[in-house]
Amino acid sequence: MKFATKAIHIGQEPEKLTGAVTVPLFQTSTYAQIEIGKHTGFEYARTQNPTRFAWEENLAAMEGGIDAFAFGSGLAAIDALMRLLSSGDHVIMAEDMYGGTYRLAERILTRFGLTFSYVDMRDVANIESAIMPNTRMVYTETPTNPMMTITDLAAVARLAKANGLLMVVDNTFATPYLQRPLEHGADIVVHSATKYLGGHSDLVSGIVATNREDIAEQLGFIQNAAGAVPGPFDTWLLLRSSKTLAVRMDRHSSNAMQIAEFCGQHPKIVATHYPGLPSHPGHDIAKRQMSAFGGMISIELGSLARAVEVTSKLKLFTLAESLGGVESLVCHPVSMTHGSIPKEQRERLGVTDGLIRLSCGIEDVEDLMLDVEQALA
Ligand SMILES: Cc1ncc(COP(=O)(O)O)c(C=O)c1O
Repeated sequence: MKFATKAIHIGQEPEKLTGAVTVPLFQTSTYAQIEIGKHTGFEYARTQNPTRFAWEENLAAMEGGIDAFAFGSGLAAIDALMRLLSSGDHVIMAEDMYGGTYRLAERILTRFGLTFSYVDMRDVANIESAIMPNTRMVYTETPTNPMMTITDLAAVARLAKANGLLMVVDNTFATPYLQRPLEHGADIVVHSATKYLGGHSDLVSGIVATNREDIAEQLGFIQNAAGAVPGPFDTWLLLRSSKTLAVRMDRHSSNAMQIAEFCGQHPKIVATHYPGLPSHPGHDIAKRQMSAFGGMISIELGSLARAVEVTSKLKLFTLAESLGGVESLVCHPVSMTHGSIPKEQRERLGVTDGLIRLSCGIEDVEDLMLDVEQALA
């Protein structure tokens, strides 16, 4: 079965009692039991919810995993998978990644005895040199938020396997429609489902998928024992969103490609970061591991004053945090999503005061291009 068919049908079979073609919303906290010790298989909704189960089955199928576990946000999902580790373990992380993941690692997880090294994952040799006797996990994001750098998934997977490390990939920017890290050798995929998987800027959620039985068993235990599950309505909305993921991602990608090509030629733009441009340093790897390049573009405007000017002139790109919805958004990473990364580290990565990040929506591209053009003029 091909991708769009899986997205619409797996976990989304017609309901048995009435034939409803949409998975019902089980908005309940508990289930009536038949007698003591005898129940339907559903006891309490933190542990079991049929709508959540349908969404988890659906996402696992899209990622090519054996199981998936949903959480109340992307960060709750990342926090849960970190609980696979124990005090004293070391994790190698991408130095360029979502600021909230860095904050979780540095401000919370270090207090529980985990240690982290941050490396430039564009070169796998940097990961290899960071391996220590207590390293247990390599955590990557590709394309990264916000610099759009690309990590070679197959090369990292080979290194991780050779050294007995768990390999985790944050696949939020690409979605399983454009990139399936488990097929390249990763053990775990995590998403902020708030973004493209939700796709309509109307929910906050997260999900983790794996193709390993032992990890699935542990994640299932953590999900229930620590309890950061999503509400059933959000999982119902996510099932709705899966049905259009393929068509939305095609449109996000083609809109972004045209806008990136325009920005790449514009005399007032210092740099355009989009892996679909042949000039992007990760373009060849991205072409190999992604089927298209997604809807996110970062552009360097040269100064804070210019970033303020351009973002306030944009009319269709709304200034807001988040990304991946049908409507176009623009964000200023330094003051919004990446404020928790130290200034010196941020600037070394290129996350400067003049950098803005475009989340290209699925509006008519002619209108988006006109908007960008007038804002830059
Ligand atoms: C790449 C990436 N991972 C994780 C997260 C965290 O997800 P959430 O905001 O759903 O907790 C975000 C949020 O922006 C993100 O962009």
